Amino acid sequence: SKALITVSTGARIGAIDPRVYGSFVEHLGRCVYDGIYEPQHPTADEQGFREDVLALVRELGVTTVRYPGGNFVSGYRWEDGVGPREQRPVRRDLAWHSTETNEVGLHEFAHWNRKAGSEPMLALNLGTRGELEALDLVEYTNLPAGSALSDQRVANGAQEGFGVRMWCLGNEMDGPWQLGHRDAVDYGKLASRTAKALRQLQPDLELVVCGSSGAAMPTFGTWERQVLEQSYDDVDFISAHAYYEPHDGDVDSFLASAVDMDRFIDVVAATADHVKAEKRSDKTIFISFDEWNVWYLSRYEDVDKITGDDDWPKAPRLLEDVYTVTDAVVVGSLLISLLKHADRVKSASLAQLVNVIAPIMTEPGGSAWRQTTFHPFAITARLGRGEALRAEIAGPTIPTKRFGDVSAVDAVVTRDAEAGTAAVFLVNRSRTEPITVSVALHGLGGVSITETATLADDDLEAVNTAAEPDRVTPSPNDSATVSDGSLTITLPPVSWTAVGLT
Ligand code: AHR
Repeated sequence: SKALITVSTGARIGAIDPRVYGSFVEHLGRCVYDGIYEPQHPTADEQGFREDVLALVRELGVTTVRYPGGNFVSGYRWEDGVGPREQRPVRRDLAWHSTETNEVGLHEFAHWNRKAGSEPMLALNLGTRGELEALDLVEYTNLPAGSALSDQRVANGAQEGFGVRMWCLGNEMDGPWQLGHRDAVDYGKLASRTAKALRQLQPDLELVVCGSSGAAMPTFGTWERQVLEQSYDDVDFISAHAYYEPHDGDVDSFLASAVDMDRFIDVVAATADHVKAEKRSDKTIFISFDEWNVWYLSRYEDVDKITGDDDWPKAPRLLEDVYTVTDAVVVGSLLISLLKHADRVKSASLAQLVNVIAPIMTEPGGSAWRQTTFHPFAITARLGRGEALRAEIAGPTIPTKRFGDVSAVDAVVTRDAEAGTAAVFLVNRSRTEPITVSVALHGLGGVSITETATLADDDLEAVNTAAEPDRVTPSPNDSATVSDGSLTITLPPVSWTAVGLT
């Protein structure tokens, strides 16, 4: 079958904020310890961070990294993670039922971030702490020398502040599992008070208030409205979190997960705009989609480890999903969804970065490798720059249990006027049919193909492992041609494709 995708000039969605290609490092399982940090590893730098992992992080192209949680942050005392390492306290991490040694804290993370070439995005503990501790952390992190806490930072080895712009006002405060969970009005008031206080210290911060932990939360929608009614004038972003997996073997709905993400973003934007109208405000609240991924929550076998009371392991193997070809196609299509909302989603974090539901895996003392999901992320982060353009799709549909009939093909186009380049990202969700697509490229400027990459495989369950790290990689798509201002390309069943143009 053939789908006609037309891209007309003027159908501009919005500028792509590079921060949509962010990721997330939480003190959870082996993300930090035995993940990015392993002092005994042959590639460890002078602070204990693995250079082989850093090289993969740079290749992945992550622009921002959210830290240190996640659920972890709601029980975290940031002071535990600064000062001489040998004096740092060992604590019980209640969120993940683990032992936290605090070997890695703010200074180490800033060092790692610089090497990774990414921008830090810090989360504040508004679960078990409040405005004062938030003020203390921003003073310590950002202020020039000359105040008690900034001087303490200098004494701890960092003359200059770390210059962290973006701060999350807590994490998933709508979730009953969250330490310090509270209702929307209560949280909205706390977020507002904290934001006002922080802006008195540093007016130009970018602040993210917690939205829902997922669209299935019973408070979804009401939570966003009530939180923003309390905090609209004080914040810049509202967060969204979403994780996807197949339910009851329903692969067609799973492949259409981006339909859910599209609706999620539209509804959060509409709710924020509702509050905008109530407040007669000129300001628009943007979305920080700061946790998204495929996560096999239902397969989660380590659950005893985080609820038993006699065992508090250090860096246990938690949430170590091994991603298939199908998962990578879904991740690629979720990236298309984020780009299709480039006007509202100005920040996003693939959760997470290493070992924990992650594109990068490691073995202690051993290798680091790319999961299947690494590839669509790395290619999109590299090619998907500038502005996003709408792609109108006319073509076959697929019936799904969760979303009704959905387009078999989804797509978005990006154009970087400065660089004189463009890119088309496509997904074929059909499990049986290859689909030939024509993309009308008028208005895109030059139109010759610079590269093509298709991720597909006869074995949809194929994965990458330490033993076979490159079992699944994208291949050039030789079917792609451009003639008369039109790109024609055949998409295999269950595939994700990127085409670079100049
Ligand atoms: O990313 C894993 C967990 O998922 C995070 O800690 C939490 O914020 C979310 O529920």
